[in-house]
Amino acid sequence: MTNLIEIKGVRHAYKTAKGPLPVLDGLELSVPEGGFTAVVGPSGCGKSTLTKLVAGLLKPDEGEVWLHGEKVKSPRSTVGMAFQNPVMLEWRSILKNVMLPLEIVPTKLSRKQQEERARYLLALVGLEGFEDKRPSELSGGMRQRASLCRALVHSPEVLILDEPFGALDAFTREDLWQIMHQVKEKEPFTGVLITHDLRESIYLADQVVVLSGRPARTQFTLDVGTKGTRDIAHLYTPEAAAMLAMLRHQIEIAQGRAPAEAPA
Ligand SMILES: Nc1ncnc2c1ncn2[C@@H]1O[C@H](COP(=O)(O)OP(=O)(O)OP(=O)(O)O)[C@@H](O)[C@H]1O
Ligand SMILES: [Mg+2]
Repeated sequence: MTNLIEIKGVRHAYKTAKGPLPVLDGLELSVPEGGFTAVVGPSGCGKSTLTKLVAGLLKPDEGEVWLHGEKVKSPRSTVGMAFQNPVMLEWRSILKNVMLPLEIVPTKLSRKQQEERARYLLALVGLEGFEDKRPSELSGGMRQRASLCRALVHSPEVLILDEPFGALDAFTREDLWQIMHQVKEKEPFTGVLITHDLRESIYLADQVVVLSGRPARTQFTLDVGTKGTRDIAHLYTPEAAAMLAMLRHQIEIAQGRAPAEAPA
């Protein structure tokens, strides 16, 4: 299988008034085509910076980012992004908000086809009948579902989700996890999910990458290995508990709360 996303030896520092702030130092990550990788790590370690590098919004100081066999040098329209607090334009309907990327990214779809695609995606996430509502008329979970449609409307080959479910309550979050699996089945994409929720990472992703504290390097990679639609009940199995314990330990190492090597 070819890797659709390939990050090799990436280093990056932000220029600040107090001098350079090294954020990434030794980032290695590869996501095969159709794969879904979750990235976890301490707050402020550089996870959102990683997403900007993949989208071509930032250039690394050193190392390389490749997408589909091409080195990323500028912003990529083949990347769709969704964030924790989706910004929606209040003066536009939900349908028109979802169609927005098609006004920016070149598309071969006619106006009618664009609208059909937006309606299809909204129905896929259970928002049929809400097309003409304004963003403020939707709940947080519904807005997040609409934001997912907007990120997918131009059929990006890569979908980046930066803590998309972080602001939602636990039950709404679990609903959205299940919707994510359904969406991925119908609208295949290669995904990168940034999250602080370890259960979310093993439920949604097939690979979990743990970043070290800042400057972040790839500290640990877990192959989750489950394919296809998953049952939430899987999260309560001993197998899932073992994976969560392993990830939790790696996060403690990343936070400097546990030694890197367990004492003999
Ligand atoms: N444009 C910028 N200029 C200067 N420093 C920045 C800039 N963007 C981010 N930083 C700093 O770089 C570090 C990493 O930021 P980043 O947003 O990538 O972290 P993160 O892992 O996504 O954090 P969180 O888990 O809180 O979302 C932080 O210390 C942040 O303050
Ligand atoms: Mg972030």
